Amino acid sequence: MLEVENITMRFGGLVAVNQASLKVKQGSITGLIGPNGAGKTTLFAIISGFLRPTEGVIRYLGQDITQRPTHLRAQDGVARTFQIVQPFAGLNVLENIVVGAFLRHKSRNEAEQVAKRIAKQVGLEKDLYRPAHGLTVAGRKRLELARALATGPKILLLDEVLAGLNPSEIRDILPVILQIRDSGITILMIEHVMQAVVSLCDDVYVLSQGKMIAHGDPAEVVSDTAVIEAYLGHGAAGRLTKQKEEVHASN
Ligand SMILES: Nc1ncnc2c1ncn2[C@@H]1O[C@H](COP(=O)(O)OP(=O)(O)OP(=O)(O)O)[C@@H](O)[C@H]1O
Ligand SMILES: [Mg+2]
Repeated sequence: MLEVENITMRFGGLVAVNQASLKVKQGSITGLIGPNGAGKTTLFAIISGFLRPTEGVIRYLGQDITQRPTHLRAQDGVARTFQIVQPFAGLNVLENIVVGAFLRHKSRNEAEQVAKRIAKQVGLEKDLYRPAHGLTVAGRKRLELARALATGPKILLLDEVLAGLNPSEIRDILPVILQIRDSGITILMIEHVMQAVVSLCDDVYVLSQGKMIAHGDPAEVVSDTAVIEAYLGHGAAGRLTKQKEEVHASN
C-alpha cells in the first residue's frame, strides 16, 4: 500500500533520514521504532507531505506521490497524528473532530454525525461539549486520533499516540487501535512502548540515526543485538546477556 524508497532528508548539514526504505502492507499494523532523534517524525512528515525529501520516492497505492501537496494526500486517504498534540484549544471536542470530518462531508449536520460516531469509537462520547484545552493528556491523545480518523483515511500514521499515558490508559487504548485496523484502515505507528509494539504490530522497522537498521517480526526485532545497542549503546547487548547468564547461574 505504501512504499518508502531510499528517502534522504537533509536539514543543512544534518542528515535526519539517510537512504531509508520501508513497505506497509494493506490491512496491517506496521511499527516504526528507534531512539530519540532517529528521524521517525521527519519520515512521517515526508510521507504525509509536510516536507519534501532531499532524495527518494514515496509511493502510495502504486502512485508516486513524492511531490503531491499535503491536502491532496489527505484527500487520497493519508492521515497523520502529531507527536505534540495541538487541538484547536478554543473549540470543544466535537468541533475539533468536525474540522476533520469536513474533508469529506460538506454539510455541518453530516460532519457532526460522523464526528459523533468517531468520538464514540475512540471513547470521547462523554466529552463532546468540553473545551479541548480542558482534556487530560489521555483525552488529548484520543482527540488527536479522532481528528485524523474523521478525515476518512485509508492509511493512518500514528506518531507516539501512547506517549505520556499510564499503563492502564495504554491498556484502554490498545483495543481502540485494533478496532481501527479491523475497520479496514491500515496503520503505520511510531511507538516507544515496546510491549504495545510487540502486541499490536505485524511487522516492525527500526530507524537509528536516520538509517533503517532492522526489519521483521516484532518479538525478534526487539531482541536483535543491533537494535538493543542502538537504544542502549555499544556493547549493551553483550552486557545484558552476561547479566542474564549470571542471574541464571546464581539461581
Ligand atoms: N525542521 C527541522 N530542521 C532542522 N532539523 C530538524 C528538523 N526536524 C527535525 N530535525 C532534526 O532531525 C533529527 C530527527 O528528528 P525527528 O524528530 O525526526 O526524530 P524522532 O525519531 O521523531 O525522535 P523522537 O523519538 O525524539 O520523537 C533530529 O536531530 C532533529 O533535531
Ligand atoms: Mg518523533
